[in-house]
Amino acid sequence: MKFTIKTDLITKIPADIITLAVTNKNQILCGKQLDALTLKHLNNILKLGDLSSKTGSTLLIHGANKYSRVILLRIGVQVDLTPKEFFKGIVNASKELSNLDFTKIIFPINQFVNKLLTEQTTTEYLVRALADQGYIINSLKTQNKSKPANFQVYLHTNQPTSKEIKQGLKNGHAISKGVDLTKDLGNLPPNICTPTYLASEARKLARAYKMKVTVLEQKQIEKLKMGSFLSVAKGSREAPKFIVLEHKRGPKNKKPVVLVGKGITFDAGGISIKPSQDMDEMKYDMGGAATVLGVMKTVGELNLPLNIIMVVPTCENLPDGKAVKPGDIVRSMSGQTIEVLNTDAEGRLILCDALTYSERFNPEVVIDVATLTGACVIALGHHVSAVFSNYNPLADELKTAGEKALDPVWQMPMWDEYQPQLNSNFADMANIGGRAGGSITAACFLSRFAKKYNWAHIDIAGTAWKSGKEKGSTGRPVSLLSQFLIKRTKN
Ligand code: BES
Ligand code: MN
Ligand code: ZN
Repeated sequence: MKFTIKTDLITKIPADIITLAVTNKNQILCGKQLDALTLKHLNNILKLGDLSSKTGSTLLIHGANKYSRVILLRIGVQVDLTPKEFFKGIVNASKELSNLDFTKIIFPINQFVNKLLTEQTTTEYLVRALADQGYIINSLKTQNKSKPANFQVYLHTNQPTSKEIKQGLKNGHAISKGVDLTKDLGNLPPNICTPTYLASEARKLARAYKMKVTVLEQKQIEKLKMGSFLSVAKGSREAPKFIVLEHKRGPKNKKPVVLVGKGITFDAGGISIKPSQDMDEMKYDMGGAATVLGVMKTVGELNLPLNIIMVVPTCENLPDGKAVKPGDIVRSMSGQTIEVLNTDAEGRLILCDALTYSERFNPEVVIDVATLTGACVIALGHHVSAVFSNYNPLADELKTAGEKALDPVWQMPMWDEYQPQLNSNFADMANIGGRAGGSITAACFLSRFAKKYNWAHIDIAGTAWKSGKEKGSTGRPVSLLSQFLIKRTKN
């Protein structure tokens, strides 16, 4: 897909397809800019009533005089069109395009623009929606490969020098590249996407964007006394890695934003083994790591003037004669001891040491991202990620960014009342808090290692992955975190 901004008269742009916004009154907003015959033809079709009245719905039409096809997109009342409806509309339009053989398509931008949808955000959403729909992963197929979308998109605008559209294009592209990387990593099989593979991805980013990368090996991790992290890695033959990637383009003395991602490249549950049904999906238990790597890609693409540090503890969680056992007590890097009552609650065991490690950066904020609990999926389903924080302004900032990015988070409580569920008779705490409020007690566990800074935890167990026919990684919440960081460049 290639995007080009066009300021010529619409009728002067040669293309196979044009996407036209239709109001609730069946008015084609760009009508006056089309040739009379095309408009007449389209108006006749609209009279038939085949375009649903629901905002965001689309109708593909063949042979409308000047164009071999037209996509009609219902936008309701233009001033009321929301970003969410617009995004959905572009997704639908993209689905109409998916099996067509064409080379050029026009999207007039101005027909969508209103208070919430500026030229910039409209362009950004458009690029993101098309990239999201156009994503394919072919690398491991030898047959029936899907073809990558290879068409030219003309973004038409009436403004002759639209800086806004350019910025929207830039942001949209950068975010999409991050999302694509996150999807790729989540979709790769666990025999390929190992901790070593994630480390090599971090090295690639460091090379491409002049970041600093550090990969700590088993011995160095032992020296740091990350006994909790290492206990999870014990059952696996894959070497654990502790990856740090630093992007320092902010003012020298400005404290960094630290992004921590859970990197379990396969979660069999360990000795507390999971049922085998759908166990393959636990390859995406590195969704947090994939997210923060994707965000670093976006950050690199935009060369954001910020100090950002990515931290990824990564290993496998497998049963083995040497694996950590229920009842084992491990000592975390913080010094706090943990009774491992369920080896399947391993995410918190690797994250807690990463949170302690993060103290050394004297962070402005620390945000961890993790496919942490099945309970989170039960609580919130698949549409929204959960956010927990020890600092409400940070949770608010993330909520706002999520809304803007159309990648929302919902704040969950993390009250002290839940903490006693983690009591242990033998250690400072247990690694599980019972069935009640499972995603909350997981967050409470992490909070015990994040006392020294402002911190938020995002549980993406329900949002990072789609099951069923469209099985695969969603690339969430790369857009949310990218938006969060982009906004921070303006403060
Ligand atoms: N990776 C899982 C959480 C998960 C479950 C993510 C389903 C995505 C979909 C995590 O390591 C886990 O196994 N959590 C346990 C915790 C329990 C043992 C306290 C869970 O949620 O069942
Ligand atoms: Mn687990
Ligand atoms: Zn897990």
